[in-house]
Amino acid sequence: MDYKCAPWGKDLWSMEQLNLEYADRILVCAEVLEPYSGRGNKLDICKGEILYRLFFEPSTRTHGSFGAAMVTLGGALLDPPERSSLEKKESKEDMVRTVAQFSDILVIRDDTSGSVEKYARLVSIPVINAGDGSNEHPTQTLLDLRTMKKEFGTLEGLDVVYVGDLLNGRTVHSNIRGIRMYPDNRVYGIAPRGLELPDYLKGPDYKQITFDDIYDINPHVIYVTRIQEERIPDQRLREQFNKEKELYTITRAKISGLRSKIMHPLPRVGEIADDVLGDPHERIFKQVRHGLETRMAILAIMLGHEKEVLSLPRAC
Ligand code: NCD
Repeated sequence: MDYKCAPWGKDLWSMEQLNLEYADRILVCAEVLEPYSGRGNKLDICKGEILYRLFFEPSTRTHGSFGAAMVTLGGALLDPPERSSLEKKESKEDMVRTVAQFSDILVIRDDTSGSVEKYARLVSIPVINAGDGSNEHPTQTLLDLRTMKKEFGTLEGLDVVYVGDLLNGRTVHSNIRGIRMYPDNRVYGIAPRGLELPDYLKGPDYKQITFDDIYDINPHVIYVTRIQEERIPDQRLREQFNKEKELYTITRAKISGLRSKIMHPLPRVGEIADDVLGDPHERIFKQVRHGLETRMAILAIMLGHEKEVLSLPRAC
């Protein structure tokens, strides 16, 4: 089959496949689609097309918002049955090859870094990476960028502090790549010793800091992540990291004088105190909401419908 595809290619497994122009095109489509993403709104841009969600790791937000996005675009959804042929020792590769025969686009999450790119090469339909091990989670970054753009009106000249498990957190790895596509941004990291940002992601714009430095920097964004326990096999280390994490748990009192917006890809497991929810700094559930129109934009563009999105009336 011949597929109309996104300007950057068939698939989206890494932020490295995008550049500023492509990211902006996604953000523009998201902006156009936002008024159409309210409850009860349905478009027919993806009518007759099927999204298959293949999640080999747990998910609440990514699975749900891709589903809501496809339904809102007028498309249909498929998920694996509770008892798939993986039980009969079928390989994940054959499962990917199989579901691609009766779907138009796949969203895949897997526990192994680099695997989604490999799966994508097995099939002719577009494949979106919904998180591959500790590697990347590009659609989370695009919704994070949308949240920041809405907040600051620009994605340039921002100070962003990443906090938490910077070694294993795929959302951070993609986010740093996304923020770096835009000029004049500065990135900082706060992590327990042993969970620092991998060297290949450090650059001249990156600085490892301590929590107290935050008060001097007064960053635009504090992007918090959980310790990725499932990627740390040693229980003693897991306990040590979680203990150390308490030093920089975000509380309302700690951030009261700052201009910073608090972001988190979720799930949060103690890194952000409940008293921060609803505080003027907190944007974590806004991020979730922006996932809807951002993923609508990504699906529409990757299925070849960018023009239809851009021709939608701007007010509805
Ligand atoms: C993240 C993920 O799966 O990488 N969640 C998400 O998709 N919003 C973050 C995490 O699990 O820590």
